[in-house]
Amino acid sequence: MKRRTLILGGMAGATALGWALKPEEAGSNHAPYFVQASAALDSAGLAKPTLIVDREMLLANINTLTSHIGDRFNYRIVAKSLPSLPLLQTVMEESGSNRLMLFHQPFLNEVATQLPDADILMGKPMPVSAVDNFYRNLGSTNFDPAQQLRWLVDTPERTQQYVEFAKANNQALKVCIELDVGLHRGGVRNNAQLVAILDILEASSQVSFAGFMGYEPHVVKVPGDPIKYRDKAMATYTHYVDLAKTHLGNAWPADVLLNAGGSPTYQLYDEGNFPFNELAAGSCLVKPTDFDLPSLADHQPASYIATPVLKRLDTLEIPGIDLGAVQTWWNPNRSQTFFTYGGYWKAVPESPRGLSTNPLFGRSTNQEMLNGSNRINLQPDDWVFLRPTQSEFVFLQFGDIAVMNRGTIEAMWPVFQESA
Ligand SMILES: Cc1ncc(COP(=O)(O)O)c(C=O)c1O
Repeated sequence: MKRRTLILGGMAGATALGWALKPEEAGSNHAPYFVQASAALDSAGLAKPTLIVDREMLLANINTLTSHIGDRFNYRIVAKSLPSLPLLQTVMEESGSNRLMLFHQPFLNEVATQLPDADILMGKPMPVSAVDNFYRNLGSTNFDPAQQLRWLVDTPERTQQYVEFAKANNQALKVCIELDVGLHRGGVRNNAQLVAILDILEASSQVSFAGFMGYEPHVVKVPGDPIKYRDKAMATYTHYVDLAKTHLGNAWPADVLLNAGGSPTYQLYDEGNFPFNELAAGSCLVKPTDFDLPSLADHQPASYIATPVLKRLDTLEIPGIDLGAVQTWWNPNRSQTFFTYGGYWKAVPESPRGLSTNPLFGRSTNQEMLNGSNRINLQPDDWVFLRPTQSEFVFLQFGDIAVMNRGTIEAMWPVFQESA
């Protein structure tokens, strides 16, 4: 073959390949669910970025979760992923669990005051000064931290700090020990560390050993067989339980708390014998996009961000060297431009279908540009819906949560407050 023919053939091939990469038109208008949600927001007089929880989907997800866990384990509600008192109360009522996992001292104070029947495990080790702040800010409540709260310790050093705090304040504390069962996010990593912590606790008359927490989301996140990683994590968990039982003898607590799991992994324990006695999960009940995982296929999205469209342009224009027309020519999903009220959340556009942010124009927390195809009929004051990628931080950014139930906003739920 002649060299020229080869070059021309190569160019034709590259052009065909390039053309094959040209995006297809993907836009469509709101499905009936979002038409109904828009009407519900309008009827409620809402006109700003709003976090919606769909009550029906939430209840369905709680039901899914409890039917997996059954009475095989206790269920602990991960409060950071559902950061609102009425939301937590709903989950507590529907699941029949009063066990909460908290991660933030101000929210711990709020829960201790407002949900005095809760049983609380801290999900991360806190600086001893945060422990001090909790007790100093605990107002009048029936919540008895000596019985209903378990702090988390990860090292002999922190354990020693807690012992000194307890002594100085004549305060009885219960602590669980964080285990590294393969996540490598801290916690006990070897026998010597565990024994050192247990020895410090045994010598204290105020701080007592109450159990373990071994979180293992890596099991479904790393490439490879989740069951293999699950079994490895559980072998590590069992090893530390056996070691502590032998070391403590009669001092092993009768009501020991052995916590594991999280949304991504809780369904891996539907059958079999495992060393823990309770499973934690929270996010799967509202299912942000980070939880679109094969292990959560039977959970449904139950939370959205809704925000009004402020402006619509029937073109795409980029300031400076205007590449808007080129973007539109290449991608029919960049034919129209919408500016929304707020933006740049940890979230992805959901409805109308086919909306996307523009990498050339950039992002905005004030008025975000979204582009879409000409098939989308979206006007100023209409609503755009996004799905949060995670709940714990996103839920706190919108004020009260709008609780939607079959086309009406039936309640507004306050979210946790940052206070002392
Ligand atoms: C210690 C611990 N347990 C459980 C969870 C699971 O929470 P979720 O079910 O919301 O993913 C987390 C999440 O960060 C965690 O840190």
